[in-house]
Amino acid sequence: MAKRTVRDFDVAGKRALVRVDFNVPLKDGRVTDDTRIRASLPTIAYLREQGCRVILMSHLGRPKDAPDPAFALDPVAMRLGQLLEAPVRKLSDLTGPGVEAAVASMKPGDVVLLENSRFDPREKRNDPALVYDLARLGDIYVNDAFSAAHRAHATTAGLATVLPAMAGFQMAREVAALEALVAEPKRPFVVVLGGSKVTDKIKVIDRFLDLADQLLIGGAMSLAFLKAKGLSLGASKVEEEGLPYAEEALKKAAGAKCELVLPTDIVAADSFAEDAAAWAVGVDAIPDGWMGLDIGPATAEKYAAAIATAGEVFWNGPMGVFEMTPFADGTRAVAEAMAACPGVTVVGGGDSVAAVNKFGLASRMDHVSLGGGASLEYIEGSDLPGVVALPDKEQA
Ligand code: 3PG
Repeated sequence: MAKRTVRDFDVAGKRALVRVDFNVPLKDGRVTDDTRIRASLPTIAYLREQGCRVILMSHLGRPKDAPDPAFALDPVAMRLGQLLEAPVRKLSDLTGPGVEAAVASMKPGDVVLLENSRFDPREKRNDPALVYDLARLGDIYVNDAFSAAHRAHATTAGLATVLPAMAGFQMAREVAALEALVAEPKRPFVVVLGGSKVTDKIKVIDRFLDLADQLLIGGAMSLAFLKAKGLSLGASKVEEEGLPYAEEALKKAAGAKCELVLPTDIVAADSFAEDAAAWAVGVDAIPDGWMGLDIGPATAEKYAAAIATAGEVFWNGPMGVFEMTPFADGTRAVAEAMAACPGVTVVGGGDSVAAVNKFGLASRMDHVSLGGGASLEYIEGSDLPGVVALPDKEQA
């Protein structure tokens, strides 16, 4: 069900408390990937046009429930100011008299960024006292942080219970894209899953075995499936705890309408290094002491062909160690096939987003979800506290 958005409510002139996800990578005090900041620009711009005072809240990293300069939001405020081409006042606290005074002095269109919400121990336990302290700062609550919506925190869920709440445009886009994907996927529906761990994706695999027409497995997690089928994989790093789940999924797939497809060849290397000796071998022919670090060319071709004729494709998780050039081809093949696919293409979070960005293909996807954990939990069928807390459009 679509959520009420900032367009469905009279926001004009309001003090808008906006939860964004500015949990971005930093290096030497600078933002190294501003995708998430850019994603919230349309919502911020719209609220400013409507004469709102925009009070932004975000977490950054996982500080230990206390202020930690390494996780302060100053570099984020600087980058946001550059992108908005407007001043962004970064406050040094999340709540308190200083924050209240700063907010009281804001003019329509002004933008303020509060300090990292996770510096306050009350954030993660969704403490009503923090919800109350924050609610005093705003007239409305806007949640534009889909990628943090799987957390039931004060700024992601609590505030929606005490202020008129609505989704920002990024949140609305994410929910619409993922809802369409699970409710009415275009057929044939092809899912590509990779990444390192089967145990991270058990429920998602299970859901897709019910929903998809083909489930193509790659990345390190395919090794657990191959081992579960009895293959010997040399020195490959296999997630042992994943084996029973892989066995379970293989059993379920045997009786399912969905075809579960595993690699038939693999790029094997004599060490985990960019300059390792490496070549493609059959999955049953990995030499002793060698390890599988990418899907092989025959598998990549097969997966690309399946993607080419798909009505809809969902992809989460790289096919190999794409950060190293010799092991990037499988992931690149999937990304390129998706870019060329005439069907609906959805990239779901985390490393696959980094991969499409690296290959310059993000703009050729229909939807790139910025929520790794959140998008997988949504697809699994879990209720995301940050989404559930927002009213549906009809209730507007
Ligand atoms: C993310 O990066 O996935 C979100 O910002 C959530 O961060 P968290 O896993 O630390 O809650």
